[in-house]
Amino acid sequence: MTTTAVTDIPVDDSISIAELTANPYNIYKRLRAEAPVIRVPSINRILLTKAADTKRVKEDWELFSSDDPRTPMQRAFQAQTLMRKDGEAHKRERNAMAPAFAPRNIKGCWHEIYTKVAEEYVGRLPRGETVDLFSDLAAPYAARCLTYLLGIPEASDADMIRWSQTLIDGAGNFGNVPELFERSDAANIEMDALFDQCVERVRADPDQSALSAMVNVDDPIETKQIYSNVKIAIGGGINEPRDALVTILYGLYTNPDQLEACRADALWDAAFEEGVRWVAPIQVSSRLVKQDTEIGGYVIPKGEVVMTSQASACHDEALYDAPEAYNMFRPRTPHQAFGNGPHFCQGTHIARRMLAQIVLPMLFDRFPNMTLPDPDAVKFWGFGFRGPLSLPMTLN
Ligand code: HEM
Repeated sequence: MTTTAVTDIPVDDSISIAELTANPYNIYKRLRAEAPVIRVPSINRILLTKAADTKRVKEDWELFSSDDPRTPMQRAFQAQTLMRKDGEAHKRERNAMAPAFAPRNIKGCWHEIYTKVAEEYVGRLPRGETVDLFSDLAAPYAARCLTYLLGIPEASDADMIRWSQTLIDGAGNFGNVPELFERSDAANIEMDALFDQCVERVRADPDQSALSAMVNVDDPIETKQIYSNVKIAIGGGINEPRDALVTILYGLYTNPDQLEACRADALWDAAFEEGVRWVAPIQVSSRLVKQDTEIGGYVIPKGEVVMTSQASACHDEALYDAPEAYNMFRPRTPHQAFGNGPHFCQGTHIARRMLAQIVLPMLFDRFPNMTLPDPDAVKFWGFGFRGPLSLPMTLN
């Protein structure tokens, strides 16, 4: 720590959760310019908005632990998931799931399965009608692909979507509202019962899924941990690809030149990468400070919780010109939408494959004259997770 570091971290009690949920980007822009390290009482955390600071925090897991005791995640998941573990304990559980996410499996197994899912889900969309692609494609497609990856294809799309939202609501239940935990407890009972059956199946007939990988190794992690990590993937593997897909479509349709160029040259990877940079599906993460340290010239005492805004990092003017614009032709600069460090998103390549290489091109192939009739009707929402609440498109 330098001796010039200042102990009085600035406070901004004008920032409300409602404003952050409606549109955090104007707030982040002001904070990056005026106060990139700021205590925000409404979220009970020190908020970090510059890319260099968020990256450093995410990478230094010894100083900035993922085990933030103030979050109700453990209560909601009835166990400590791998997302809240550090060091060897985290690595052991992450490695247990890793074979399912390996590039050879994406290429050799998931690509074919996801293509079939996309053919079915895009194929059933009605031609000539206006449909909400959020609820009629993005959410169920993400849910179905995830059931295969995890090894629980017996789960219905509706159950997956409900469990995911229930776990997210429980993990964000900072006010300890009893009904939210009652609902997450009930969902845990349903999931555990299904997983018990699925374990029997993958023991008898191993496959490429995460459940099979975790169950069939020589030295498996505890069953409770296997289940909680399948649950964290349910809680974290539906919203992000869903929100990314509708965000990308909205970005393209509100920038017709880019839409045309993207279709002409099949630039789906660039459209995807810019979409998640533009509106990061997971906007913020929390880390517990393990030792007194310094960030941006301020002393941050041990025991504080810092919140990294990867949403803001992805709009940092130090890295991006006109960051608030969707511009798939901007110079390629690494973004932080998938996080950094040991907890870097395990599903990154899966998400790219599902969206950029499978469903987006297929959707445009089937509906080459698709339109977005009312762009103003599309509302983005969310502070922790963010994306459009709906995307009504006319399919032709
Ligand atoms: C566009 C889509 C996605 C985005 C933007 C995204 C973003 C992220 C981010 C930012 C984190 C790190 C959170 C933190 O550091 O606290 C994360 C972690 C994670 N993601 Fe994703 N994600 C996406 C899709 C997926 C999918 C499809 C899966 C499939 C299961 C997945 C599984 C995970 C897991 C298991 C972790 C925890 C990794 C760990 O703690 O070691 N993600 N994701």
